[in-house]
Amino acid sequence: MSKKPVLVAGGGGFIGGHLVARLLQDGHQVRSVDIKPVEEWYQVFDDAENVVADLKGSDNCHAACQGVGDVYNLAADMGGMGFIENNKALCMLSVLINTHLLQAAEKAKADRYFYASSACVYNADKQKSEDVVPLKEADAYPAMPEDGYGWEKLFSERMCRHFREDYGLYTRVARFHNVYGPYGTWEGGREKAPAATCRKIIHAKETGATEVEIWGDGKQTRSFMYIDDCIKGILAITDSDILEPINLGSDELTTIEGLYDMVEDIAGVKLKHTHNLTAPKGVNGRNSDNTKIQEYLGWAPGIRLRDGMKKTYDWIYGEYQKQYAGQPA
Ligand code: NAD
Ligand code: GDD
Repeated sequence: MSKKPVLVAGGGGFIGGHLVARLLQDGHQVRSVDIKPVEEWYQVFDDAENVVADLKGSDNCHAACQGVGDVYNLAADMGGMGFIENNKALCMLSVLINTHLLQAAEKAKADRYFYASSACVYNADKQKSEDVVPLKEADAYPAMPEDGYGWEKLFSERMCRHFREDYGLYTRVARFHNVYGPYGTWEGGREKAPAATCRKIIHAKETGATEVEIWGDGKQTRSFMYIDDCIKGILAITDSDILEPINLGSDELTTIEGLYDMVEDIAGVKLKHTHNLTAPKGVNGRNSDNTKIQEYLGWAPGIRLRDGMKKTYDWIYGEYQKQYAGQPA
């Protein structure tokens, strides 16, 4: 094992925090960097080097990469549909993080560089129907990704490729499909559907409400990947010979209505569903084609949605109690 520290950019965030935990468990020295004050990190580990810095800045990226072995870039200004539809410029500015981090990693002669891309790179035309054909890696081109966020991800993927081809930097890229689990955003506007669903249903249960509002008509389809599968996949893809961006997502498809039903069942309540047809909806249908990852790794994310949602619900329930105990939320 390399004695050099591993850099986790975005270590104060959801996936970054879980990755830091796993790398420490595996005996690595970890440098975790995030723009947020440490009090706002989802997980803080005293045995990691915890640094607050804006990685959009080139100098900060060079400092973060000093003496580093592997680099995992999980830093981005992002969120669920409610955030990315209304903050396209902010999402695109994350291009500065990946650009400066690639340059710094190359200068520091980092051993390996992992980039977190997204299913939002896929061509919108392939995601018009709820009745989905799972997305294959080739479906990203011809390019017509999610406006703002998706274009940034597609461009950054491409830059990783060219740093590999032109400068010999070892780069690996995974396209995450909606990731959920404990220690992530569950309120405030950046939360994605799994956490939002838990929060809304917990709130209804705690306040005695009989209705819950779903964004969209509820017929839209998605697959959701539990965080443990995501971390396993990040490490396996980084270790692999997979040179091109690859799907890292579950292929267990659900309607959004089905997600709400599942969480109500976990919560032990039955609510009337109302639909907000002007809320951010994103694509009508999206699923991950896992043929390639199966071929390369003999593995694909397989944690059942119900099992992951139960753990996520329990964690959000605890957070909700801490935040709103004794007061109407
Ligand atoms: P997150 O928002 O919880 O974590 C991202 C972290 O990056 C945050 O803590 C944020 O403060 C930090 N950050 C933002 N700008 C920064 C800057 N300028 N300098 C330093 N740190 C900065 O999100 P996440 O869910 O953990 O996502 C991690 C990565 O995975 C992101 O690149 C995201 O686009 C990608 N991704 C996530 C999902 C998902 O469903 N969670 C899906 C597709 C792709
Ligand atoms: N966020 C949210 N909040 N979505 C809701 C809600 C709610 O209360 N109720 C229903 N939805 C619906 C949305 O309208 C959308 O159709 C679907 O649930 C999924 O929404 P999100 O989880 O916010 O995002 P997404 O799956 O469209 O895209 C996410 O995943 C991508 C990767 O697959 C985003 O997080 C992207 O940033 C990410 O790259």
